[in-house]
Amino acid sequence: MRVSGSKNAALPALAASLLTADEVILDNVPDIEDVGRFGEILASLGAEVERPERSRFHIRAKNIVNTDAPSDIVATNRASFLVMGPLLARFGEAACAPPGGDVVGLRPVDVHLAGFRALGAEIGRRGDQLVARARELRGARVFLDYPSVLGTQNVMAAAVLARGTTAIINAATEPEVVALADLLNAMGARIYGAGTQTIEIEGVPELHGTRHTIIPDRIETGTWVIAGVITNGEIDVVGCRPTHVAALLAKLTEAGARVEEHDDHIRVISNGALRGISVQALPYPGLATDLQAPIGALLTQARGVSFVHERVFDNRLLYIGELRKMGAEVVSAGSTAVITGPTHLYGTTVRALDIRAGAAVVLAGLAAEGRTEIRDAYHLDRGYEDLERKLRGLGAEAVRHEGQPAPEPVGAG
Ligand code: EPU
Repeated sequence: MRVSGSKNAALPALAASLLTADEVILDNVPDIEDVGRFGEILASLGAEVERPERSRFHIRAKNIVNTDAPSDIVATNRASFLVMGPLLARFGEAACAPPGGDVVGLRPVDVHLAGFRALGAEIGRRGDQLVARARELRGARVFLDYPSVLGTQNVMAAAVLARGTTAIINAATEPEVVALADLLNAMGARIYGAGTQTIEIEGVPELHGTRHTIIPDRIETGTWVIAGVITNGEIDVVGCRPTHVAALLAKLTEAGARVEEHDDHIRVISNGALRGISVQALPYPGLATDLQAPIGALLTQARGVSFVHERVFDNRLLYIGELRKMGAEVVSAGSTAVITGPTHLYGTTVRALDIRAGAAVVLAGLAAEGRTEIRDAYHLDRGYEDLERKLRGLGAEAVRHEGQPAPEPVGAG
């Protein structure tokens, strides 16, 4: 199973292209809904966006004609807010609606706004939009109340063109933050310490174009590793970075799966004797919240009682209702799911409630007896490239029934 480029690294990379008038070329970009929509946002701002190959973008943000992100797209894609930092830095003004309601819990943008303010911006409202303005951004010490991933990326992107030095304290340490810093540094920025909780940025007057490869998707990596375990199978996940899923591999090993790590390749071998475990979803390098639902699906097949604590978002256990429809014994109390297993799962009609809740029902469907029908599958298209083709490659029977209307998704992901 070859892993695609990372959704959550591709979106900030697309946003970063707004920081220069030169061409930025991005390779290994996943062909998924959220990326396509982000390309539309860039085009609506006046950037020239070309996709000469499915996985390659050429972006030239030379003639930016406006600094207002289109609200209809923003409402469907939370990452749209990532245009704020680059636009503010380069043009002194940026406007974007606060990203819409969400199914995984409250997702405010106060961390982003406090960071922009610390750099000297004024924040106001215009209609449905938040507007950030600054005649000049000045480097500052910026403390983040929470190590928000998009918040860190937005503030980092704003600070690269600020006058003087910025220190982001309590920064997110996710690999997608490091990947963005690598891209920005290749464009001429001076960012040090990305991947640690303090990031230092020496402002530079301007950035230039570059060519950059998107890192492999660690959540897709984890999803396929779990697919191997839940089907008692043997899967080689290739083109991935095993260190990015170290927490997952440790927990799977604890549960009794056999996992072999190589440079860019993970082999998982399962003998069906899984034990119940306790997991906590935390900021990196803790176990990724985006893998919490897939792990919840897996633990329905483990012997004994498992506890799944969600500690990043406040409402990310809704998928357990879908697992229950398939026969799982799982209850929740607050942000904790208690799963008793192993249970025999039965295929039935379930919903993909968001991208990762969708992955959980796909995984449960692989282990279930009979046919699982997944409604609202458009959520899966937002984050997983070629899902049915890849599932079929592993031996699953997966077909898409067209004709289901795809309502506008709310801003998860
Ligand atoms: N938070 C605040 N204030 C803020 C921002 C966030 O309190 O201003 C809180 C949120 O309420 C939440 C916590 O911080 O409880 C974590 O949110 P974070 O900001 O770190 O998440 P995000 O940056 O909005 C990204 C990913 C998510 C992933 C999270 C956590 C992208 C596009 N999205 O979101 O990915 O779950 O980090 O790792 O990078 C997905 O891919 O399905 C997905 C939801």
